[in-house]
Amino acid sequence: MAPSDFTGQVALVTGGGSGIGRATCLQLARDGARVVVTDLNVETARETLSLMPNPEKHLALQMDVTQQSAVQSVITTARDKYGEPPSLLVNAAGILITDPSVDKTGTDVINVNLKGIFLVTQAFTEELLRGNEGAQEGKGVIVNIASIVGKMGHPELKNYAASKGGVIAYSKSCAAEMARKGIRVNCVLPGLVKTALSKRLSEEQFQAFIDKTPPGRYGKTEEIAEVIVFLLSRRSSFMVGACVEISGGAGM
Ligand SMILES: NC(=O)c1ccc[n+]([C@@H]2O[C@H](COP(=O)([O-])OP(=O)(O)OC[C@H]3O[C@@H](n4cnc5c(N)ncnc54)[C@H](O)[C@@H]3O)[C@@H](O)[C@H]2O)c1
Repeated sequence: MAPSDFTGQVALVTGGGSGIGRATCLQLARDGARVVVTDLNVETARETLSLMPNPEKHLALQMDVTQQSAVQSVITTARDKYGEPPSLLVNAAGILITDPSVDKTGTDVINVNLKGIFLVTQAFTEELLRGNEGAQEGKGVIVNIASIVGKMGHPELKNYAASKGGVIAYSKSCAAEMARKGIRVNCVLPGLVKTALSKRLSEEQFQAFIDKTPPGRYGKTEEIAEVIVFLLSRRSSFMVGACVEISGGAGM
């Protein structure tokens, strides 16, 4: 089996209807995985599916990562369709709110970016380990999308930065706890990537970020997805709790 051949494996991707999540779904499908594309917006999840070579092999489902019952229902649907639970998980769903008056307490951002990852990770690991607790390397792999802003901090993005700092700490803690149960956990710290999310930045904020990025450009969604797929694959089998910066050098 080629190292990044996911044939026979089921992958669950949150936020798979757009941006980095969509690019990850497409690369997973390219490499043989059966992909459960989930998003708050099911229409965009279906669009992602329609871009795949064999759409009938995959699933597009509505899932709000902040709703425990919705998360559980998706995991059950995936297990019922494929006869096994997903063994690969990419937590890509995320929001960014630049106007502090809209989300004064940061609750919305923390709910999606951090609590959402708790809920999906809990449901995914419970299902994967059910009746199958013995150590077995390669049982499951999780990649969480944090942000370089979670390491650097950023003016006017305090809530977002705090949520992503939380994702980094949560990923390392899960990595330490789950490694001996056969589940590898890592996270990625993208820099600026042009997506619906980064369109929420003002033109000045967008340009200021590019100025901080040594090559002087933003990243492409595919450039982030390639690293995520590497971290999901056996090629990274000894990477545990790593926080991989894919930022064009911003925040290094
Ligand atoms: N674009 C960037 O510059 C950048 C940089 C660093 C990190 N990130 C992170 O990458 C991840 C993907 O973001 P993107 O840039 O591709 O943005 P995007 O807006 O293109 O995609 C995010 C997806 O998440 C979905 N989503 C939002 N709330 C949800 C919820 N409650 N439940 C389920 N899905 C929900 C959206 O519908 C959307 O499809 C996010 O976690 C983001 O914070 C992005």
